Amino acid sequence: MDDLQNRTQEAVAAVSNAASLDALDALRVEALGKQGWVSQLLKTLGKMTPDERQEKAPKIQSARVAIADAIEARKAAIEAEELERRLATETLDLTLPAPQTPKGSVHPVSQVMDELSEIFADLGFAVKTGPEVEDDWHNFTALNMPESHPARAMHDTFYFPDHDGEGRRMLLRTHTSPVQIRTMVAEGAPVRIIAPGRVYRSDSDATHTPMFHQIEGLVIDRDIHLGHLKWTLETFLKAFFEREDIVLRLRPSYFPFTEPSVEVDVGFEVVDGKRVLGGSGDAPGHGWMELLGSGVVNRRVIEFAGLDPDEWQGFAFGVGVDRLAMLKYGMDDLRAFFDGDRRWLQHYGFSPFDQPTLSAGVGAPIGGRA
Ligand code: PHE
Repeated sequence: MDDLQNRTQEAVAAVSNAASLDALDALRVEALGKQGWVSQLLKTLGKMTPDERQEKAPKIQSARVAIADAIEARKAAIEAEELERRLATETLDLTLPAPQTPKGSVHPVSQVMDELSEIFADLGFAVKTGPEVEDDWHNFTALNMPESHPARAMHDTFYFPDHDGEGRRMLLRTHTSPVQIRTMVAEGAPVRIIAPGRVYRSDSDATHTPMFHQIEGLVIDRDIHLGHLKWTLETFLKAFFEREDIVLRLRPSYFPFTEPSVEVDVGFEVVDGKRVLGGSGDAPGHGWMELLGSGVVNRRVIEFAGLDPDEWQGFAFGVGVDRLAMLKYGMDDLRAFFDGDRRWLQHYGFSPFDQPTLSAGVGAPIGGRA
């Protein structure tokens, strides 16, 4: 047993002199590891007579504890030395000037939403938002799409397994149109709002992502007709694209929540192989590009929202914000919008100082000032 004491003292001494965490661990394995000598000794206890075991077990145990304690103490000391060393050598000079160029930039989607808010605020529209987790009544039923309506299938909806307290199915909203209902229900008429936000559909390729952005427009008042819709869209698109020669073409279309429904195309010309908005799409070398859906609000929708359709009429439109950003600022792959790639953000992002205003212009140079 003197042998045990000597060996323990040697081990404790070696531990106290260990120069690094690695060296310390090697010593731990040598004594306390599965094949370590202390562990081996502990295994011999089983074969001893009870008397013998009573005498030796406490000694072997205290050897184990002594070495383990020494290892703990040395480990704490090495770590403290290491911290001291780093504190002494690492410095942070708080008197250095801030970096010349700010690193963050405003995402084109945020920028375009700000531009749209500015344009529509000038036309007297308020900005509303609604929940992205919607119930099927607001997303479909109240928009004149009852349970079995085929248009529901066109939306590739993400449903939740659960229903809300009133037994309504929950889903990720497939468009911003439920904000029409929420606004009319909460505030009655008249209404003049836009509602920007995220929407979700199970769809993915270069021009579709499962989450994208829309902006909804809704006007409810007395004696509203298609002429008001056309003027509003023309005024908004001229301001947004900063061109007076924006020409629109209204085509008959179908949405359950508008009647009549109109698909709006915008004329473009091809300059150096690129499509540039402006000019009549019918001229040679020009064309029409589909831009947004709109129409006169269906009587049934006004009824669902609790208003009298004989008194109140209106128009609504919905347009893809990402698509507007791509057309104005020239990106060609929608997926890059949501990759979070710093290089893309630096190239297409905007400076936070580029607040869109109607007086200074709602457009901002991409990248340049960011
Ligand atoms: N909600 C429709 C869509 O997402 C767009 C739309 C909005 C059409 C308002 C008409 C009126 O496709």
